[in-house]
Amino acid sequence: MDLQNKRRVVSGVNLVEVETTKQLESIISAVSRGLLQTPKSLPCWLFYDSVGSKLFEKICQLPEYHITRTEEQILRTKAAEIIQGVSQGLSLVELGSGNSGKTRLLIDAILERQATLHYIPIDISSEFLLQSSIQLLTEYNRLSVTAMAAEYQAAMPILAQQSISPALILFLGSNISNFDSGEASVFLQQVREHMSPSDRLLIGVDLVKETSIIEAAYNDSSGVTEAFNKNLLIRLNREIGANFVINQFDHWAPFIESESRIEMRLISRVDQSVSIRDTGESYDLSEGEYIHTENSYKYTITHFNEISQAAGFEIEQQWQDERGWFSVVMLCPRSSKET
Ligand SMILES: C[S@@+](CC[C@H](N)C(=O)[O-])C[C@H]1O[C@@H](n2cnc3c(N)ncnc32)[C@H](O)[C@@H]1O
Repeated sequence: MDLQNKRRVVSGVNLVEVETTKQLESIISAVSRGLLQTPKSLPCWLFYDSVGSKLFEKICQLPEYHITRTEEQILRTKAAEIIQGVSQGLSLVELGSGNSGKTRLLIDAILERQATLHYIPIDISSEFLLQSSIQLLTEYNRLSVTAMAAEYQAAMPILAQQSISPALILFLGSNISNFDSGEASVFLQQVREHMSPSDRLLIGVDLVKETSIIEAAYNDSSGVTEAFNKNLLIRLNREIGANFVINQFDHWAPFIESESRIEMRLISRVDQSVSIRDTGESYDLSEGEYIHTENSYKYTITHFNEISQAAGFEIEQQWQDERGWFSVVMLCPRSSKET
């Protein structure tokens, strides 16, 4: 991958912007590839421009969106225990950090044990990342922040070059759920390859539960998830000259039991044709046809553990809420136990 890094300091935050050749080109190629598939699909990372990140923040506060609250409750009660199990003198890395809301619980626990902390959030939503990082610096005077505006994979090799070990790497919010099993396994292996023996990976995993509870979380009554899903089309209209008529699409996110996943969909209300200036293509959608915008897989503990072990990790510790809705898992790279 052709990587260009821009480094600068903004309001005390060390900002590293990692560009994969050209951001716009990757949007264009992802969109033209996805809209030629059956069913049509768009990658979920496209949700996260500044508007999308703010909408996701609102989703986290919805009564139906139990995922954030349940994970937060586990971290709130177990933060000290989680940190007790990892090496002293830690750095904290976070993949897909969003607003770093729940991260504060871990930052607090780490700062109970050490005088200062270097936090390295990595997120594709660059402006939101920067603002969240600046906010953190105003709250914590013993924190330094290197914010990496990058896709996960692009950030990893750069991470490996920094002297951040021992590091606790966070992957919270069930971000892992956006990958199917094969992709999750490859992703975990990639993270594993960039870890030192004393590093640990802490992952939040949403678990299978009653379908009505899962579906309510992605089809909220106040329409915030609908706005989040449709923002993707608004973004494509603005950034690559698409002409999606937003009110000609409905949001629906069914739980597909055979795949154990939520599918976020945008369903065409009418027969229509959409053209995109920057791909030079038009795409026909018939009434009822949908664009698949995100998967969110719901795991069993057994399945998640199998994937982690196959990717070269050992399950060091695992925490769950009382209802068994969510799991927080501490993974240790296998060779570090063997050495
Ligand atoms: C579901 S949100 C979770 C945010 C936060 N971890 C939490 O638990 O609230 C996913 C976050 O990952 C980021 N993200 C999604 N895909 C990404 C990618 N391929 N590379 C880097 N960041 C990504 C998004 O911008 C967003 O902030």
